[in-house]
Amino acid sequence: TPLAGFVIAIDGPSGSGKSSVSKQVARTLGFAFLDTGAMYRSATWWCLDQGIDLDDAEAVTAATAQLPLTIGTDPDLPEVHVHGVDVSAAIRQTRISEQVSKVATIIPVREILRQLQRRLISEAGAAKGGVVAEGRDITTVVAPDAQVRILLTASEEARLARRSTELHGRADAASVAATRTQIVDRDRADSSVSEFTVAADGVTTVDTSDLDFGQSVAAVLQVVDAARQ
Ligand code: DC
Repeated sequence: TPLAGFVIAIDGPSGSGKSSVSKQVARTLGFAFLDTGAMYRSATWWCLDQGIDLDDAEAVTAATAQLPLTIGTDPDLPEVHVHGVDVSAAIRQTRISEQVSKVATIIPVREILRQLQRRLISEAGAAKGGVVAEGRDITTVVAPDAQVRILLTASEEARLARRSTELHGRADAASVAATRTQIVDRDRADSSVSEFTVAADGVTTVDTSDLDFGQSVAAVLQVVDAARQ
């Protein structure tokens, strides 16, 4: 079934500014917002909560098929609940960030979450007239039929500096080195199942290496405006 509403799909690696930029673009346009990474994080939280071994792909898949997830699509209130528990903060913990790739690289898990993502995008798009959905495979697999498809990238140096500032409050050599293992290793694992380092056909690359937050938002809005003409 075709997606409802105007869909803006944004993919990119960690530290590209994807989440904050996508959220702000959604706010500006009065659109809904879907953070698909939060769904992989929620599945990870749910499995760990139930004592499931994340290396057991079958058990993780079975748990994901039963994932009692509610995810908000208001950019100002993107709350995530699993089984009624607000996990919005818990899914951002290092414990989850370090293990989420194990879950996100299980193909049947991706199939389950992709189906759910497509439904959420369509529902939110219908309700708000449009939706900004961000992740790693939205432009290519989840919503290749989106009206706007963007790959938000930045040089490895810029991404490490941003993530280091987020995690440690600074980007000195030691903090960047500590960040590197988390970000680079995770992106390498994740890119084994989704290509998000090179733009697919029809996908517009927006490189934010030399852009600040406001400039990155403006660059994305410019691509959106061109598509809406
Ligand atoms: O964007 P993030 O850091 O919250 O993503 C969490 C994890 O989920 C990360 O390992 C990449 C993975 N992911 C994915 O494989 N596909 C998506 N569409 C979104 C996230």
